[in-house]
This record gives sequence, structure tokens and C-alpha cells, in this order.
Amino acid sequence: MLLQRATWPDVRDYLEHSQGIVIPIGSTEQHGPTGMIGTDAICPETIAVGMAEAGILVAPTLSIGMAQHHLAFPGSITLRPSTLMAVVRDVVGSLASQGFTHFYFLNGHGGNIATVQSAFAEIWAEASLNGRASSLKLKLANWFTGQRIVALSRELFGEAEGSHATPSEISLTWHAYPDSMRNEPLTPKRAPNGPIRDASDYRRQFPDGRIGSEPDLASPAHGKRLYQAGLADALADYQAFLTDH
Ligand code: NI
Repeated sequence: MLLQRATWPDVRDYLEHSQGIVIPIGSTEQHGPTGMIGTDAICPETIAVGMAEAGILVAPTLSIGMAQHHLAFPGSITLRPSTLMAVVRDVVGSLASQGFTHFYFLNGHGGNIATVQSAFAEIWAEASLNGRASSLKLKLANWFTGQRIVALSRELFGEAEGSHATPSEISLTWHAYPDSMRNEPLTPKRAPNGPIRDASDYRRQFPDGRIGSEPDLASPAHGKRLYQAGLADALADYQAFLTDH
């Protein structure tokens, strides 16, 4: 069930049998010359729609994340870490006040991880420092690090996966939006690799936006297989999260 298409009585009834919710979280940032700026939000959202079809309540996607290092490319938008932490805390607080206890953030962007984990630590610290035990279970899961997805990415792309504007994430977006496919060849075929620092350094080191990847290997057909693997990973991990005490 998608929260945005549900009514409040639907959610009241859902809460009688489950207190868990999935919150897709992504980013709005460049993904090389051929990847959509929404890639990191589209990927977890696409998988989360499959979770909704399995009966799990899915919140609206948090589409803007921590993307400071992409700001030298037009179209990229960032929240400061402190802003994103405030967003996560307010989303969790809103739903927790209504009885939700299990919050599963399905993440599409590596740059969000430290900030979202810090937001969780703030939520737990607030409870502890007020002398209460928090009953909230909070998890950040990356759609791209599940067991099935990692094995399939390796099988399909090997070392050409790279770490930004990867053929796996681009394939998944083209499965979701085949009309947005643009797989012209890129030069160099494989983007340079290395560590990232701030926004200006990023554009200097990685001029077309990719890091270590060959996204021209992407295809909607690969994206369909990646979707199935990512959904299986997410469903299994979410069920384990609900039952793990
Ligand atoms: Ni990405």
C-alpha cells in the first residue's frame, strides 16, 4: 500500500496488524552524461513499489539527500547534513506519534548513510536523555548492497560497475522509465576511479560525473533482473527486521 494513495482509515486499519513502514530515501544529483538526475531516488522507489504490492505500507520517497559533492554539476540539489537529520527525525516522529514502531529506510545513495545513521542516533539519544527507553526500531538498508543484487551486478558488469553512475543503477532506472534511456557510448569507456572530496574537487577529478563505471553497459533488460533481485533482497530483509527483537 502506498501511503500517498491510501486514506487515513486505511492506515488506521493497517496499524492494527503492522506497525512497520518503508521509507524510500534517495538523492537529486548528476549521474553522468546518460543517467537521470533522479537515479538515486528512482531506484529505491521502484523497489519499494514492489514492496507496496506485497502489502507493506510505503511512505513518499525522500528524494533530496546529502549530495554536496555533486553541486558543481547543474541540477544537483543537496540538503545540509543537519537539514536531512531534521527531516528524518520529523518524519519518524510524526509516524511514531500514531503508533508506528518499525522504520525501514530503503536507501539509494551512499552519501546519505552517515547522516541518516546520525539522525537515528539523535532519536535514540533524545529518548535516553529524557530517561525513557525508545521503542523505535530504525534501519537504513541500501538497495544496492543486498546479497542477490551484489551477486547479479558482479555477474552482469564485474569491474565495470564502478561506484557512481553504475550500470546497475542506470539499468534499474531504465527498467522503470524505458523512454528515458540514452545509452550513447562514453569517452573514456571506463571513468576514472578514486576518492572524493568536495564539490569542486569532484568535478576536477571526474569531469563527466561518473566514477569508475561503464554505464553504456546498462539496459532495461538487465534492469528488470536487477529489480527482481533487489525486491527479493528487500522483502527478505524487511521481514527479518520486523521479527528481529
Ligand atoms: Ni547513484
